[in-house]
Amino acid sequence: MSTEAWRPRMHFTPARHWINDPNGLVVLDGRYHAYFQHNPSGSIWGEIGWGHAVSDDLAHWQELPLALPATAEEMAFSGSIVVDHDNLSGLAGPDQAGPVLLAYYTRFDRQSLVQSQCLAFSRDGGQSFERWSGNPLLDIGSTEFRDPYVFHHAASNRWVMLVVLALECKVEVYVSEDLLRWEKASTFGPAGASVDTIWEVPVLVEVPVHGKPDQSRWVLFVSINGGTRWGGSGVQYYVGDFDGERFVLDDSDPTDTVRWVDHGRDFYAPLNFAGAPGEHPLWLGWMSNWSYARDVPTAPWRGQFSIAREISLVNRGGRLTLAQAPQVRATLPAPVLTCAGQTAKQVAEQVAGMDLRGRHWRVRVKAAHADLRQPLLMNFFTGAGDPVRVGYDTVSDSYVVDRRSAQPHFAGDSEIHAVPRDRGLDSVEFEVWVDGCTVELFADGGTAVISDLTLGHQDGQGIALWHGASNPPLAIFELTPLG
Ligand code: FRU
Repeated sequence: MSTEAWRPRMHFTPARHWINDPNGLVVLDGRYHAYFQHNPSGSIWGEIGWGHAVSDDLAHWQELPLALPATAEEMAFSGSIVVDHDNLSGLAGPDQAGPVLLAYYTRFDRQSLVQSQCLAFSRDGGQSFERWSGNPLLDIGSTEFRDPYVFHHAASNRWVMLVVLALECKVEVYVSEDLLRWEKASTFGPAGASVDTIWEVPVLVEVPVHGKPDQSRWVLFVSINGGTRWGGSGVQYYVGDFDGERFVLDDSDPTDTVRWVDHGRDFYAPLNFAGAPGEHPLWLGWMSNWSYARDVPTAPWRGQFSIAREISLVNRGGRLTLAQAPQVRATLPAPVLTCAGQTAKQVAEQVAGMDLRGRHWRVRVKAAHADLRQPLLMNFFTGAGDPVRVGYDTVSDSYVVDRRSAQPHFAGDSEIHAVPRDRGLDSVEFEVWVDGCTVELFADGGTAVISDLTLGHQDGQGIALWHGASNPPLAIFELTPLG
C-alpha cells in the first residue's frame, strides 16, 4: 500500500526503497550534495551502496543516480567526502575541470565480513565515483571497524580521519599529509559508554560558542546503537579540545552524565556538510531508529533525513550545551496566521475558524513561563483518532512530543518523549516542524530538541492549539505551511 500522505515535503526521502545514514555531505559550487546508505532494490537494509541527492536550498531535494553501488564483492558502508583542491592525492584527471572529490567509505567484504577503510574518487563533480586501485587504506582485519570521518585540521595543516572500533566503543584517530597514507595518532573512548552498546559514525567539529565571537570548542559526536536511555539508537556528544592528533575532554564536561544530542527517538548518524558556508557547522541526520527502522510502514520509501540544522554551543549554567537551529535556505510560504499578544483562547479560536488542513507546518510559540498553568500543545493530524501532541507540559515542566496515537508502530516505543525546560529561562518558547511522517521540536534556543517519526492517521488532516481551561497570553504564535 502506498502511504504518500506520510511523505515529507522538505525532508529528503528516496523515491523508493530503503535509506539509512547520510554520507559524504558536501557543498559544491553552492549546491548541497547528500549521499546516503541506500538499498536500491529493497525496503529493508541490504545491498548497501551510496545513493545521491542534491539541493539548492536544503528544502527541495532531487534524487540522482547511485553514486557508489555495492558490487559482488563488497557493500559500501558509511563515510565522508573531502574536496582535494590541491590534488594532494594525485587522483585528479589530466583535463579535469574542477577538483577531485575523495569519498572515504567502509568496504564491507561480503565473504570475510571484514570492514576496511577505502577510497573512491570522483572526477565529475560527485556524480560518479571510481574505487581507488590502492585500496584498502586501513585494514586491521576487524569485522567492526568503520565509518571514516575525514576533515582538514587547519592549525596542524593535516588531514584527520576518525574511525570507530564499534564493539570496543572507541574512536581511533589517524592523520595524513597526502590523504592516502594514514598513521594512527590516538584513541578516544570508551568514555561514558553504557554497557551493551556499540559506537558508530564518529564526527568531530569545531563549534562556535554563542555570543563569544572568538570562542569555540571541539565537539565529538558518536552514534550509539543500542543501550541508550530508551533502548534504541541515539547520539551522544563530548565537549573538549583537539590539537590535530588527540581529543581531550574539557574538565567541565565529565562523563558521568551522558549528553544526548536529541531527546526523541529518530535522529541518528548525523553528519556535517564539508565546505558549508558560514561559521556554524551545518548537519542533518537519518530520521529513524535501529530498533524499529525496518518496520516503519511507509511505502514505497523507507527512511528520511532530518531537517538541516546549524549547530552552536550555548553556555547554560556554566556548561557548554549543544544548540541546533533548523535551516532551510528557501523562502517559506507566508504564514497563514501570525499573532502577538493575544490569548491562547483567541488564537485557538482563530486556528479552528480557519479549518486548516494539511500535514506540513512550522509553528512558533512563545509565552511567559509564569503565565502557564496548563499544558500548551499543538495537536496535529486531528480528525481521525488521537492526534500527535507537541509542545509544553506544565506537570513535568518539559517540552514533549506525544506520539502515543502512532501505536502500534515503533516496536513499543510509541510514547511521550520529553526534555526538561531550562529552568534558568523565563519563557516557554518552541518551534515545531511537522512534515508528513516527521516532527521536530526545537525549544529553549535550540538546546532542547526532540526528533520523532509520528505516523498520525493518514486521514487526519486538521490542526489545533490546545490550552486546557487556562488562557495565557501568547507573546508569539505563528503558523506557516511548509511548501
Ligand atoms: C550506522 C551504520 C554504520 C554503518 C552503516 C551500514 O547506522 O550501522 O555504522 O556504516 O550504518 O549501513
